[in-house]
Amino acid sequence: MGIIKPLPDLLISQIAAGEVVERPASVLKELLENSLDAGATKIDVQLEEGGVRLIRVADDGSGIAPDDLALALARHATSKIGSLDDLERVASYGFRGEALASIASVARVSITSRHASQAHAWRLRSDADAVEPAALAAGTVIEVADLYFNTPARRKFLKTEATEFAHCDEVLRRMALARPDVAFTLSHNASAKRRLAGAVPGDTAAHNFARRAREIIGDDFFPHARPLDASAGPLRLSGLAALPAYSRAGRDEQYFFVNGRFVRDKLLTHAARQAWADILHGQRHPAYVLFLELDPAGVDVNVHPAKTEVRFRDARGIHQFVFHALQRTLATPLSAAESAAPAAPAYAPPAFSYARQAGLAVGEPAARPYLEFARAAFEAAELGVPPAPTSMEADPGAAPLLGYAVAQIHGVYILAQNAAGLVLVDMHAAHERILYERLKTSLDAGPPATQALLVPLVLSASEAEMATAEEQAAALAELGFAVAPAGPRELAVRRLPALLAGGNAVELVRSLLRELAEHPASRVVETRRNELLATMACHGAVRAHRTLGLTEMNALLRQMEETERADQCNHGRPTWVQLSMADLDRMFMRGR
Ligand SMILES: Nc1ncnc2c1ncn2[C@@H]1O[C@H](COP(=O)(O)OP(=O)(O)O)[C@@H](O)[C@H]1O
Ligand SMILES: [Mg+2]
Repeated sequence: MGIIKPLPDLLISQIAAGEVVERPASVLKELLENSLDAGATKIDVQLEEGGVRLIRVADDGSGIAPDDLALALARHATSKIGSLDDLERVASYGFRGEALASIASVARVSITSRHASQAHAWRLRSDADAVEPAALAAGTVIEVADLYFNTPARRKFLKTEATEFAHCDEVLRRMALARPDVAFTLSHNASAKRRLAGAVPGDTAAHNFARRAREIIGDDFFPHARPLDASAGPLRLSGLAALPAYSRAGRDEQYFFVNGRFVRDKLLTHAARQAWADILHGQRHPAYVLFLELDPAGVDVNVHPAKTEVRFRDARGIHQFVFHALQRTLATPLSAAESAAPAAPAYAPPAFSYARQAGLAVGEPAARPYLEFARAAFEAAELGVPPAPTSMEADPGAAPLLGYAVAQIHGVYILAQNAAGLVLVDMHAAHERILYERLKTSLDAGPPATQALLVPLVLSASEAEMATAEEQAAALAELGFAVAPAGPRELAVRRLPALLAGGNAVELVRSLLRELAEHPASRVVETRRNELLATMACHGAVRAHRTLGLTEMNALLRQMEETERADQCNHGRPTWVQLSMADLDRMFMRGR
């Protein structure tokens, strides 16, 4: 009387489809990969209604013999590998033999193909039993219609037509970057969206790639992009990396390919982020198109059915190599033409610009020292004598407690001069403290002021993060966040506490989800409020290595003066120290 029974084949494929066929873009990815594996040099893509109604991919590849057509749709049938040995050094995009079967289990599929051995083409439809003769000169046409027609639950996850199309376009962009030798066209609802020519005969591969990269990423990126080509033993990293003058608010221009396959890999992203860390403002993201090549045996691409995750055998070595190769590239001195661009300083007369630079309105009492200095400078100029160095010496009482910023040291500390002498401020710690206190005050006063995001911020999320966001939606709302699923593995942030609008919201939401997942009580905001606020403040605060202007530095000093306990950061470290003139004198053994 057993109760365990094998699942029907169709159901198995539909379950597998959950992993491979997330949305139209994932179908397109599988079809493009198949065309490339078949040696296509020209691929035409037609989409209707974001790909939900129709995805049609036509290629000029090898074609499929009629006897193989049924097998192409069968689960675990592939022409690409035949042994474990093959699997360990797989060079094709596909090898699992499950994409077409999965797609055919959730959509109406037809394959039309003409193999070189055949006098004409043959067609097989997923709902028919036999092949039929068809008209096609060469290659293969695959049509996927009515995606999820038989699984309405999945259809509910689909977004608007425009969003699904955008995802499809992104898939095509990635493929096109990896394969500048192949021509692509893309149309949506019968209007042409992209036309990318293949390789120009006689042009070098580097030229063809540069032209393709320009078409895909655009003219703004290009002037700042630095070519690189580094190798170490079996490792090679090549492509284009943008100098810090060109950076992005998001990670949308980060393309990493491993052996020609687009991947989203934490290790590689981290190595890249580190290479840019010292030169890029903390809330900006670098732009790059990078190709890592290595022995296929050194990387496992069979981690996830969609194959955008990989696992490296020598993770440490790869990280080091990528980091150093990028860092070297970015550190190469600029050409004369490039360095001439930022060379002209914007000179402004000292008069009122000092007060303005300090972020002060002319009428404010705190602006007085600046204005006095400005007037003194004017008078001195008229009298032909040099002005007094600062008005604070003349009237120490008018100067604010933390004084005025003079400089920023290595992007970490602010140096300020006050009445007593020298003030050193840890910029990040101080800002964190200010945000923390403000968040507390704002939450004490009621629901926090929030800011709706014009363009919701979308972040990819693990299943666990998705679940936490759902379970803790109320806690998140109490803290001022609106976070909702935007897809099976994507969260959209639509609203943030206004105080944190300038910070790195993605990191912020991730850390909050982590915190909330660890303490999943329903009253978590009440019981762990301050810890949560500290996390928020930490991610909302300016990062070290961010260049601040005098205005921003002085604004920070003024905020510190207004903030309770601003002298301690949330981790208990001091946020500023005072070195009095006497301290300085002692350092230099200077008798006073
Ligand atoms: N565009 C195409 N041109 C030629 N052969 C194709 C094409 N698409 C699919 N095939 C054949 O169908 C088989 C199954 O495809 P798929 O389900 O994606 O599995 P995989 O790519 O992992 O082998 C492939 O191994 C290949 O032989
Ligand atoms: Mg495939």
